[in-house]
Amino acid sequence: MSFTIVEPAPARLNRSELAVPGSNPKLFKKAAESDADVVFLDLEDAVAPDDKVQARKNIIKALNDVDWGNKTMSVRINGLDTHYMYRDVIDIIEQGGERLDLIMIPKAGTAADIYAVDMLVTQAEEAVGRKKRIGFEMIIETALGMANVDAIATASPRNESLHFGVADYAASTKARTTVIGGPNELYGVLSDPDDAGERLYHWGDMWHYAIARMVVAARAAGLRPIDGPFGDFSDPAGFRAQANRAAVLGCEGKWAIHPSQIDLANEVNSPSKAEIDKAKRIIKAMRQATKEGKGAVSLDGRLIDIASIKQAEVMVKKARLIAK
Ligand code: GLV
Ligand code: MG
Repeated sequence: MSFTIVEPAPARLNRSELAVPGSNPKLFKKAAESDADVVFLDLEDAVAPDDKVQARKNIIKALNDVDWGNKTMSVRINGLDTHYMYRDVIDIIEQGGERLDLIMIPKAGTAADIYAVDMLVTQAEEAVGRKKRIGFEMIIETALGMANVDAIATASPRNESLHFGVADYAASTKARTTVIGGPNELYGVLSDPDDAGERLYHWGDMWHYAIARMVVAARAAGLRPIDGPFGDFSDPAGFRAQANRAAVLGCEGKWAIHPSQIDLANEVNSPSKAEIDKAKRIIKAMRQATKEGKGAVSLDGRLIDIASIKQAEVMVKKARLIAK
């Protein structure tokens, strides 16, 4: 182990994160009753400029009046390059009560962006005597943000999670796609001819690097990596495939931009019963091995060691959070 100890962010379930436009309060009750682990009320890109002020008022009212149960509540503020952002922070903290858990910072570009929001949030929290500290979720969705992803991840003790915002990231990097998330058939590999002269074309995942890079930065800082939107809500199979790819790389959740995507995200990001049972057996076998003074043993014909026990403990801890 390194002598540098990485403190993990507060443990929260973040399998699904439902995006709800602040300009559409009719959706709030349904969001509160949904199975989403996290709900973010949006003031940024889902809200037209003319609706920004009203959306802020709607969100303040909803934070005070709606019963959000045990959900983690977040508000996506406007970007630091807009004049809406300071008032988003001030009004939400001064008037939104204690219910808010997180602020989502869109288009995070540099560590200084996070520092600036931290300064404002700290002053506002102190001024109102807030008891619960607000955490930060940062969307990595620009070339600048990706270039500075490590510094962003460690910029504030409030940081809890990094999110991959595929739509803005595609725009910022001028990637050749017009859809939100998912693969592009041009990003493929053509095999050499086989004996019969046949060549196979495999689609690749054009988002592999970006997600893997964000996962490393997040995990190295003890944060949760979360995959962002998948725009085609009438394609559950496409959503599931994208969510699985992100989960395999280490993401622990995915956005839902439509209620139909919540169950899919929860399912993909929950360990299965077989995985939990296996994890429990690994922990048991390793406990026995430790008693016998061994560092590694075999289980079901495979080697397990101290690293396996850590993976198993993560799995069992998550299962406990879900069962609560
Ligand atoms: C999310 O904000 C995105 O741009 O994908
Ligand atoms: Mg975006």
